[in-house]
This record gives sequence, C-alpha cells and structure tokens, in this order.
Amino acid sequence: MAHIPPHIVDDIMQTARIEEVIGDFVQLKRAGANLKGLSPFTDEKTPSFVVSPAKQIFKCFSTGKGGNVASFLMEKEHYSYPEALRWLAEKYGIVIPEDRPATPEEIERRSERESLHIINEFAAEHFKNNLHNTDEGKRIALSYFQERGYRPDIIEKFQLGYSINKSDDFTAAALAKGYKLEFMGKVGVTKIKDDNNYFDFFRGRVMFPIHSVTGRVLGFGGRTLFTDKKIAKYFNSPESTIYNKSEILYGLHFSKGDIIKYDNCLLCEGYTDVISMYQAGIQNVVSSSGTSLTKEQIRLVKRYTKNITILYDGDNAGIKASFRGIDLILQEGMNVKVVLFPDGEDPDSYSKSVSTSELESYIEEHTQDFISFKAEILLKEHGDDPIKRASLIKEIVQSVSLIPDQITRNVYMQTISDRFDISENILSNEIIHQRQDHIAKTHNAPEFRNVPVEKPKKPLELKKEIGIEITERDIARILVLYGPNAVSLDQLDEDGKKIIIETSVAELICHELDVDELYFENPIYNKIHQTVKEKLDEKIFLKSSAFTRMNEQEIVRFVTEVEMDHQEISHNWATKHNIFTKSEKDKIYQAVMGSIYAFKSAKIEQQIRKIQQELKENEQELPTEVIIDMLSEQQILENIKMAFSDKLGRIIL
Ligand code: CTP
Ligand code: MN
Repeated sequence: MAHIPPHIVDDIMQTARIEEVIGDFVQLKRAGANLKGLSPFTDEKTPSFVVSPAKQIFKCFSTGKGGNVASFLMEKEHYSYPEALRWLAEKYGIVIPEDRPATPEEIERRSERESLHIINEFAAEHFKNNLHNTDEGKRIALSYFQERGYRPDIIEKFQLGYSINKSDDFTAAALAKGYKLEFMGKVGVTKIKDDNNYFDFFRGRVMFPIHSVTGRVLGFGGRTLFTDKKIAKYFNSPESTIYNKSEILYGLHFSKGDIIKYDNCLLCEGYTDVISMYQAGIQNVVSSSGTSLTKEQIRLVKRYTKNITILYDGDNAGIKASFRGIDLILQEGMNVKVVLFPDGEDPDSYSKSVSTSELESYIEEHTQDFISFKAEILLKEHGDDPIKRASLIKEIVQSVSLIPDQITRNVYMQTISDRFDISENILSNEIIHQRQDHIAKTHNAPEFRNVPVEKPKKPLELKKEIGIEITERDIARILVLYGPNAVSLDQLDEDGKKIIIETSVAELICHELDVDELYFENPIYNKIHQTVKEKLDEKIFLKSSAFTRMNEQEIVRFVTEVEMDHQEISHNWATKHNIFTKSEKDKIYQAVMGSIYAFKSAKIEQQIRKIQQELKENEQELPTEVIIDMLSEQQILENIKMAFSDKLGRIIL
C-alpha cells in the first residue's frame, strides 16, 4: 500500500470533522460546548460518550476509550492508522498520491486478483438467481432451505444459492459474459481438464458463499442434496490468490459488529451452525468451516475481541477438536470458554429445537471455563484412579503452560490448586517443566530443559517505578494543558535584589528538567517533552490541539484523556481544593514546581534503591572501598531528597 505523505496526513486531519464522522455511527445531541450520545462500544442506556467539536476529540467515559477522529475509526472499525486515514480521505475527497508507479507485475497481479473477485461475485449472483428464479432451483434447493427452516431474509443475507445440476450451466454463462476460463479454473468454480473439456465443480449443490471481512466473495462451500454417504457432503473452493483458507472465518463479515459489542466470539464448526444461530438472534458467531482451526484464524478474531467461546458437538470428534482449539486460543494469549451441546446436537440443530431465550440461557448456563471443561471430560474418562488423576492434572496444566502471560498463568494455577487441592508449588514446578519442554520443542533444542528458571521479580521494584510514572504523567499533563501559559517567578539578581521573571510553563518545565539532565522514561511523555523542546527552539508554543493531531495514537489518547478529565473536574476544582484564594499565577507556578519536585524526588529515590539493592545482593563480593563509596553516595542522595521534600512541602503549603 502506498505510503501517505505527511502533508496529506495533515490535510486529512485538518479537513475531517470529528462530529461529522462520529455522527455517521452515533446519534449525537448537543450538551453545552460538547456533543453527547450513547457509547458505540457498549450497550449503555445513559449517554456517556462525549465529542468535543472545538478540540476535535472524543471520550467514552464508560470504556475509557478516547482520541481524535482517526482513533475513533481505529476503535470502532478496527482499522489500522493508515486505513483510518484512507477512509477519511475518501469521505472528504482528498486524493492520496501513489508514491511510485506500480510495476507491470504488480498491475498484472492486482488485475488478476480483481478478475478473480469479479468471477466469484458473478458466480454468487448466478447461483442466487438459480435458487430463486429457476424451476430446478426452486423445486430442489429453495425447498431444501425452507425445510431446514431458513427464513427468506436470512437466505438473502447470506447470499445462499444453487448450482444447476448440469455439466456447464455456470461456465457457459460466464464464458458468454466474456470471463476467462483460466480465471474460473483458478477460483475453482470450473474444473478444467483441457480447453474443450471442463465442467461446473459445484453442480447440483446448494451454495454458501464465503465472504472476506469486508464482504467480498472469496470462495464457496457447496452442500450435496443427497444423503448417500459415498458423496462428500461438502465441496469447498480451492485456495487461490484471493482465498487463503487458514485466514478466513465463515460469517465474520456479518458478525464482527456483535463480536465487538459483546466482546466475545462464538466459534462453531459449520456453515449451517453460523446461519442458524444468526437466525435465532445470536449474531456474534463464526465458524472455521472446512478446515481445522488455525492460529491465523484466532488472530483474526483477536482484532475484535480477546474472548472466544467454543460451541462444538458433544461427540468425540467435537471434544477432540475443542481440546485442540483451547490450546491454540490460550497460546495466542486469549481467553477461552466452552459450551457443549447435548450428545448428537450441534448449534444448528439445537438452536432450531428451542426458542431464542431458551438458546440464550442454555449457552449462558453451560458456558464453562476451559479448566472445568477439561476436568469434567477427563474425569469421565479416567474415573477415580489416583494415577490417572495425576495424568489428568498434568493434561490440564499443559494447557495452562501455553498461556504467554505469567500473571494469567498464576491465576489459573490458583484455580487448579483450589479445585484439585494440590499445592501451588507443585503445580508451578510442573508448569515450568512443561514450558521448558514447549520452548525446547519449538526451538528444537533439548538442552533447554535444564536452563534455570528466571527468579520472579520482587514487588519492591514495581513500587518505585510507579512513583516515577505518576510524576512523569503529571508533568506531561501540565505541559500539554498549560505549556503556553505565562508564569512568573521570583529570583535574586547579582546584588541580592528580588526580581520577577516572566516566562512560560513550557520553558520553566524544560529548564528544570534540563538543569538536571532529566528526561522521562515513559516513551509517550518523553515524546511530548522532546516535541515541546524542539518547538521552543523555534519559539513556537504548542497548544494541546497540536498533540491531538499527531500520528502517534498513544499520545493522542493521553492528551484526550487529560483534556477531557480537565473539562470534567476543572469546574469544581476551585471549591474543593480551595486554590483560588491565591492568584492564578501562583497557582500555576505551584502546580509546575510541585510536579517537578515530586518527579525529581522519585528519580532520586530510584537511585537510592538501586544502590541499596546492589549492596544487598553483592555485599560479600564487593571490596570495602567500593562499599564505602556507595554508602556515601547514598548519603548524598538522601540529603538531596530531603532538600526536595522540603521544597515540595513549602510549595504545597
Ligand atoms: N465440512 C467440509 N467437508 C465435509 C464435511 C464438513 O468442509 N465433507 C465442513 C463444512 O464447513 C461443514 C462443517 O465442516 O459446515 C461441519 O460439518 P458437518 O457438521 O458435517 O456439516 P453441517 O454444515 O452441520 O451440515 P448438516 O447440518 O447439513 O449436516
Ligand atoms: Mn449440522
């Protein structure tokens, strides 16, 4: 995809109006200077979603999401940043120039892909027309769908169709339209033996088009209408340059909105499961039709939610497939639950045998976390035999060991420990071994097994970093909100006379950080600090709106947050904190210096801790002189810290 030149990005961000764009998705009503509406990210009943046309930012107070117009599209439509910009460019008629002309191969590849799409779309139309407007289609196929209980609107929505039971009904129609046989062969709607010998691949089957996330037809599943066991129940399109089976989920195009809304994706086995569930009103549903679940498919879901609920048959094959699915999902760092349907039922058949509310409550009541699910199934297999019980626990721990995040693993370990009454120590050893085995397997290196396990970090370290993070955030907040504001401070001149210096908040902060050569550890705050500094050199004072237009989404999000929080609280701030008793200028000076001193104290505290830590760990090995040096450095730092606390105390009073 072509790179978007910076001046075009600017143009897009200047032209786009956040209230117009969001207005396409959310009903907004005026509320003072802002607009308010129901959050598009939740099911809320009272509006907590705020858009500021003046600042060109939004904030959703129920989910905490916020940012500029591009951030909104990224959250709502799950676009990447360039995709969001392209969407806006399209809406506002801004042309994005190609940064270089495409090569002939690229043009050919692009036009071949486009040709394949067009053939698939023609085929889908053709099959649909057969279903509704031919005798054979109505008699055999439409009646079949009706017998299965599919409503007309659902048949329409999923673009279901029928391929006439004649060797070249489709191919002849496509050739007459001027489509190339070669391309029909590539998407697999036509099987070609040679130029004069070809036939419709799906003849005599009902057709399920498979859509991309954006709704283009990538391929088909075709179900036979015969019950003969010798005939494959489904034929599926082969892979092609536009259809990569392992990266497609059936139904996702229709369900992505509800997947985001309910923050959960229901995963079934087949085309018919998706359609029946959808018809029953449960619409956050997809299936991996025709392939066993892949990690690419799971990552596809991850763009919309971190939660997957597996809905498989209660038969042996279903259980086996769900065990495999659980491990794959856990490995991607996602949460997995399971619903088993009564033996012999799948989501398709079950959803038809009960009402929507019964279906909903069945799913709700039978959703199990993967540990209980595995435990229940394995207990059924193993019974009470203590040796088998041990292997059962190992089997469950094996799944937990695949989870990439240590904290999550620990949570599950506790669950297992409680449930099976086993000490967490034993479990954690087992997990360590399993993870080493796993790493060894994936790296093909058996010696990994003996690598010592990393010691867990001490909580101490966590605590000190939080102090710095908070103070950094506070300074960045002041820079963004008040950078260009004037501030005056008293200083003594050479003769010891008091003079008043007028400067800006941004300059004061940058000066205070520069004298001690301090910078922020957090990359977002650091970037804000560095940007302000660069612009100060050009005598430019950045207002907060300059930050909400930046490319870096983390910065946009941060600035939105402080802007919106500021709006909400600034109004009762005065009375609560009794701060207007002093002049406005004093107040800013206090706020700036208070945050600077707090930051400097935290930095010094960090250095002191570092020394303490090193002393504690290496006291035995270090030469005495070094220890003495370290202790005296610590003393100096303690003194500076005292001085800062003193200043801080006076500032706050
Ligand atoms: N499948 C396939 N090829 C087969 C059998 C199954 O590709 N020969 C895929 C299809 O995507 C199917 C899914 O596996 O939807 C589940 O299989 P199954 O439960 O047998 O099919 P259903 O779609 O449930 O069919 P039906 O309810 O009509 O029997
Ligand atoms: Mn079925």
